[in-house]
Amino acid sequence: MRATFALALLLAVAWADHHYGHPAGDDPNHDHSHDDHSHHDHPHHGDDMSCHKLAQPNSDFAFALYKNINSKNATRKNIFYSPLSIATALSMLSTGARGNTHDQMFSALGYSSMNQTSVDDACEHLLHMMGHSHQSQVLNVGNGLAVRTGFAYLGSFIADVKTHYSAEIFDVDFEKPQEAASEINQFIADKTQGKIKDMVKDLDSDMAMVLLNYIYFRGQWEKPFDANYTHKAEFHVDTNTTVMVDMMNRTGRYDYYRDMNNHTSIIMLPYKSNTSMMIVLPDEGRMKDVEDVMCTTHFMHWRKSLSRSSVDLYLPKFAVSVDATLDDTLKELGMNDTFGDSADFSGISEEVKLKVSKASHQATLSVDEKGSEAAAATTIEVMPESMPERMVLNRPFLIFILEHSTCSILFMGKITNPTEA
Ligand SMILES: *[C@@H]1O[C@H](CO)[C@@H](O)[C@H](O)[C@H]1NC(C)=O
Ligand SMILES: *[C@@H]1O[C@H](CO)[C@@H](O)[C@H](O)[C@H]1NC(C)=O
Ligand SMILES: *[C@@H]1O[C@H](CO)[C@@H](O)[C@H](O)[C@H]1NC(C)=O
Ligand SMILES: *[C@@H]1O[C@H](CO)[C@@H](O)[C@H](O)[C@H]1NC(C)=O
Ligand SMILES: *[C@@H]1O[C@H](CO)[C@@H](O)[C@H](O)[C@H]1NC(C)=O
Ligand SMILES: *[C@@H]1O[C@H](CO)[C@@H](O)[C@H](O)[C@H]1NC(C)=O
Ligand SMILES: *[C@@H]1O[C@H](CO)[C@@H](O)[C@H](O)[C@H]1NC(C)=O
Ligand SMILES: *[C@@H]1O[C@H](CO)[C@@H](O)[C@H](O)[C@H]1NC(C)=O
Repeated sequence: MRATFALALLLAVAWADHHYGHPAGDDPNHDHSHDDHSHHDHPHHGDDMSCHKLAQPNSDFAFALYKNINSKNATRKNIFYSPLSIATALSMLSTGARGNTHDQMFSALGYSSMNQTSVDDACEHLLHMMGHSHQSQVLNVGNGLAVRTGFAYLGSFIADVKTHYSAEIFDVDFEKPQEAASEINQFIADKTQGKIKDMVKDLDSDMAMVLLNYIYFRGQWEKPFDANYTHKAEFHVDTNTTVMVDMMNRTGRYDYYRDMNNHTSIIMLPYKSNTSMMIVLPDEGRMKDVEDVMCTTHFMHWRKSLSRSSVDLYLPKFAVSVDATLDDTLKELGMNDTFGDSADFSGISEEVKLKVSKASHQATLSVDEKGSEAAAATTIEVMPESMPERMVLNRPFLIFILEHSTCSILFMGKITNPTEA
């Protein structure tokens, strides 16, 4: 019997809103994704926004992930991940999957009505759009492939992931696991501006390939908070636990919705350019009810119902970093074969039998007043004379970071305890 080699999916995601001591040469207005792969000859899709085909399946997948992750973790844990990163990495892996393994991946990703070609084209378009529509922020999304030196992979797989997923490919000597790990960690650290440094702790020497996806985003609030109003305040993690946070405060005009039927309030905080943070605050004791009804349809309902209002907003300043092992989650979402001995990755290698041994994800998020070193100028808004709505984020809330031009959920999560790093 031939040995089975292992594949690993590593998803490194950083989302940062401050820390402006960037490394030398890091121009915050320059989109780094262009340095790595020139995409200028990308086919024009015209009005046919092929990436929008992914909006519904990716959103359904995002909520399916949430339900699964949430069911596994104690209620006091923070949850934070990039559904986009996970979906993109799995789509890239699916180009090498065949048979049942492929069918299971497509079905879990909600791609059943699409074929590989249309998924690949849509992902290519998505990555292209993300690299191009952002001036006043940094959004860097991409893929990498660390390949075992001398490994007999199919040229067609490498060509597909290069073309459609802009993957950077590099050889790694997995016989020297420590060196291999540090090379991979270096790649991830470079792509996330040093936010994620030690993603890989140990690697098996039977590793054939490590698939990587990273997203780094640093947004600037369109309407920064005034640090002079930031004050210590209580945050109620649950009925028995209260922690102290630095509470930011801003009264301004925001897109806001009070969902009476579902006991929740929703606010949209825009960044400069095409991204926003949407915050969902369930009423006291209603988190579980909201989580139970949360799905793409409900999410769309919230987004459509937002209207411009005066809001007195209190939002804690915080930073969280969340590691997750996704093996069980992905299996439970239907990708059993991917991880088992019946895995069929004959689209990656015909000679060697492969299976995925590990899928892990790490994401960090930090939120503060500015979102930018240049944000000292506070936006002055003309406020109507009515009483503002009050939205006080002093208990667990849900967050979604949305990219509007591609209708993507870049990140989502639940902040249960803002002081838990
Ligand atoms: C894939 O789907 C697209 C659009 O639905 C279609 O045009 C194309 O012919 C299909 N390709 C294959 C190989 O089936
Ligand atoms: C914040 O307060 C400091 C002094 O305490 C003042 O110099 C500064 O102008 C204030 N900033 C804003 C934006 O009001
Ligand atoms: C709060 O404490 C009470 C009494 O110790 C306990 O019964 C209850 O389960 C606790 N609630 C939470 C959310 O931990
Ligand atoms: C919140 O900000 C408003 C100005 O927008 C200020 O008048 C008020 O004192 C602040 N509240 C707290 C608790 O800091
Ligand atoms: C929540 O809103 C949805 C409509 O989006 C509705 O179908 C559902 O009944 C509401 N839930 C409650 C508890 O009112
Ligand atoms: C937002 O995205 C559109 C494309 O959908 C692009 O034309 C526009 O320049 C983007 N806006 C900013 C501020 O980046
Ligand atoms: C859930 O919590 C456990 C232990 O607290 C942690 O090891 C695991 O990575 C968490 N999973 C997710 C998906 O956050
Ligand atoms: C996948 O595995 C789970 C348990 O790990 C099992 O309940 C489920 O039936 C399996 N699905 C398929 C399609 O084999």
